[in-house]
Amino acid sequence: MPNGTMKTVRVHAFGGPDELRLDEVPVPQPAPGEVLVRVHAVGLNPPDWYLREGMPGVPPELLPPLDLPLVLGTDVSGVVSAVGADVEGFATGDEVFGMLRFPTSPTGSAYAEYVAAPASDLAHKPAGIDHARAAGASMAALTAWQYLIELGHDHPSPFQAHRHEPVPIGPGTTVLVNGAAGGVGHFAVQLAKWKGARVIAVASGTHEAFLRDLGADEFIDYTQARPEDVARDVDLVLDTVGGPDSPRLLRVLKRGGALFPVYLAEYDPEELAALGVTTSATQVRASGRQLEALGRLLGDGTLRVAIDSTYRLADARAAHERAGRGHLQGKIVLTVA
Ligand SMILES: NC(=O)c1ccc[n+]([C@@H]2O[C@H](COP(=O)([O-])OP(=O)(O)OC[C@H]3O[C@@H](n4cnc5c(N)ncnc54)[C@H](OP(=O)(O)O)[C@@H]3O)[C@@H](O)[C@H]2O)c1
Repeated sequence: MPNGTMKTVRVHAFGGPDELRLDEVPVPQPAPGEVLVRVHAVGLNPPDWYLREGMPGVPPELLPPLDLPLVLGTDVSGVVSAVGADVEGFATGDEVFGMLRFPTSPTGSAYAEYVAAPASDLAHKPAGIDHARAAGASMAALTAWQYLIELGHDHPSPFQAHRHEPVPIGPGTTVLVNGAAGGVGHFAVQLAKWKGARVIAVASGTHEAFLRDLGADEFIDYTQARPEDVARDVDLVLDTVGGPDSPRLLRVLKRGGALFPVYLAEYDPEELAALGVTTSATQVRASGRQLEALGRLLGDGTLRVAIDSTYRLADARAAHERAGRGHLQGKIVLTVA
């Protein structure tokens, strides 16, 4: 079991990327049910910047306790360096990846050289992909999977009273992915293609070749045309952009179709009834079991992980500045070991 200290990046005050600081702290020890992971790469996700800012969009009554300084990061890939009590299925030396503790804890503390990880949140890293790609896959691929393929749990959604249910997609169905070049979007495009659907990708024009290479049948550059003006008879919209513009995408759906907002959005129940369409949302939840299934698709090349950019752990500030500029094509990753 490694002892001593390790490098980590911590937030000491809520605010911009300048608040990320490289610190030296004790190496954590795995509790029962956990393994200690020597981190090789960390995948970055929007909750990292929301948390760095102190979650300003969350109403105070819903805000979890946030004690400073805190270590950001949910998505990790690395090597098991110690195994706690009551852990089955993992041994020292195993290569693993996972999304840690989300959403039960606001952070999985992954921006570090070591992290104590719940074994139930981990899967074995496929041999065919490197740690950067495995770390980049976790939250974004799990989100696309739980929206489109299998929810996989019965925890109530914070967004709606009813349980989210993926709709059948396959040959003969059309899926439109808005925000298709981003972390969630580029996995959604590939999963819908894997199922045999016709896929329309919506993104800014620089991403067209990238998305066609991932399998998009049609591409809409939203800077040139409004999707609701050019797309029709869509069975399912996965909208990773959300927000106040999302309801206009209802108009691309055929009657009986569904819109799944990945980011918060509100819809007029009367408009939904008039159009004969539905909406449904969920919150991604850690699952080593589902990551094992995704790992098989990553390992055999069915799913590819696009890397927007990589930074060293010590340069986490620059990675967050990159995120702030937007227009991501795939994932931002911190390399650690
Ligand atoms: N429900 C959940 O559990 C859950 C889980 C994960 C993420 N999320 C949320 O889902 C959202 C997306 O996450 P992500 O990790 O995929 O983000 P991301 O990697 O930053 O991707 C966002 C993508 O949206 C594109 N985009 C921006 N404005 C657009 C517009 N008007 N029309 C079409 N595309 C646009 C961007 O590139 P271009 O503008 O260049 O095309 C970028 O590729 C975030 O808000 C995140 O908080 C929710």
